[in-house]
Amino acid sequence: MKKIGLMGCGLIAEYGHLPAILATQGLEAWAVYDPDPERAYSLQRKYGIPHGYAVSSMFFESGIDAVVVTSPAPAHKLNVEEAAHYGLPVLCEKPLAMTDDDASSMINTMDDAGLLLATGFCYRFSPVAQNIKRLVMDGAIGEVRSLRLVYIWNLHGRDQYTPEGHLEPNPYWAGRMSEGGPMVDCGVHQIDLARWWLGSDVANYQASGAWVEDYTAPDHMWLHLDHHNGAHTMAEMSFSYGHTVRDPLAHFSYHLIGTEGVIRYDRDGWLFEVRTRYGTHRLPGAGEKNFEGLYAAFAHALETGESGDLPSGLDGLRATQIARHATEMVIARRLPNTAPPAARFASRAANGKVGTGKNNRLSGAAC
Ligand SMILES: NC(=O)c1ccc[n+]([C@@H]2O[C@H](COP(=O)([O-])OP(=O)(O)OC[C@H]3O[C@@H](n4cnc5c(N)ncnc54)[C@H](O)[C@@H]3O)[C@@H](O)[C@H]2O)c1
Repeated sequence: MKKIGLMGCGLIAEYGHLPAILATQGLEAWAVYDPDPERAYSLQRKYGIPHGYAVSSMFFESGIDAVVVTSPAPAHKLNVEEAAHYGLPVLCEKPLAMTDDDASSMINTMDDAGLLLATGFCYRFSPVAQNIKRLVMDGAIGEVRSLRLVYIWNLHGRDQYTPEGHLEPNPYWAGRMSEGGPMVDCGVHQIDLARWWLGSDVANYQASGAWVEDYTAPDHMWLHLDHHNGAHTMAEMSFSYGHTVRDPLAHFSYHLIGTEGVIRYDRDGWLFEVRTRYGTHRLPGAGEKNFEGLYAAFAHALETGESGDLPSGLDGLRATQIARHATEMVIARRLPNTAPPAARFASRAANGKVGTGKNNRLSGAAC
């Protein structure tokens, strides 16, 4: 039994990681750490975890065998370096780091210490993503030439209503944008899937973006990846799809276009099918994330040293590097007239078209 210590007791720790650790054979949720003691202790109490700490040295000396990092991206480097100091393997949330240099330094530190550094790309472990990998490897649609990976999401808007009816900045949105915007936050999963499904890295890339809300990063972005094997991926990511409407929308889909057919997944209704000259074959649908699969792979790697489908630190670096550089390219090329009209919020308030902050806060899932 491997004792797992988790650093960062926020949203994703609670809805993704801890339930999966508790459900995984061979793993034991042993300790949690958060610099905010209330967060550490309340998560510890809620899940009946033996140890909770607000002091990292006590956490590292509690007898853990491995570390899971679910803190915000700016804290990842320090968390990983501390784990290396204590000789512990790490599973680290995406985006791996805030800069390429930080990510490289984390990878080198762990490599030098002979320790596993894995990136928490949980999308790889959805049964849909796993089936697509198998279908591609079996040549079910011939040679894959083109991928369309789309996630357009409402992410609750930049502003939200207080229960008293006043507009205020939405802290959830601000936090999301601070890691780099939609391509860094969510798009890294799609970049990872494209590289992994094709078994081919990205040779070059270009990007475009639009500003629906006025932020540093474009909140709606398109990324084009040319892979070394000649295939092309288009990834489209948005944080601002219908966030102003009463019934917010999201759209999530994968299309893989091959020389002998098409694979299609649409999260709405869990449509998942393969179309070839022989007809259409339906497969069981599933959500796009799977933390249980991620932890089964992590447990296996801890036990055997074989990493299997577990994304490496290098996979984390590569996806983050592409997403962040592409976002920077779009920002650098931003035209002066791309700012959305500031007066819109006032008219939106007058029309009553935005849900309450409370409802907005709770809808949808993070990346
Ligand atoms: N894979 C996914 O599906 C997915 C989904 C959501 C978020 N994430 C990623 O997970 C990370 C955390 O996101 P979140 O939404 O849970 O954030 P959050 O703000 O809800 O929680 C982060 C927690 O980390 C704590 N923290 C701050 N500094 C720390 C430090 N130095 N060491 C340890 N803990 C520290 C905070 O106090 C907070 O409790 C982000 O990098 C985010 O991009 C991944």
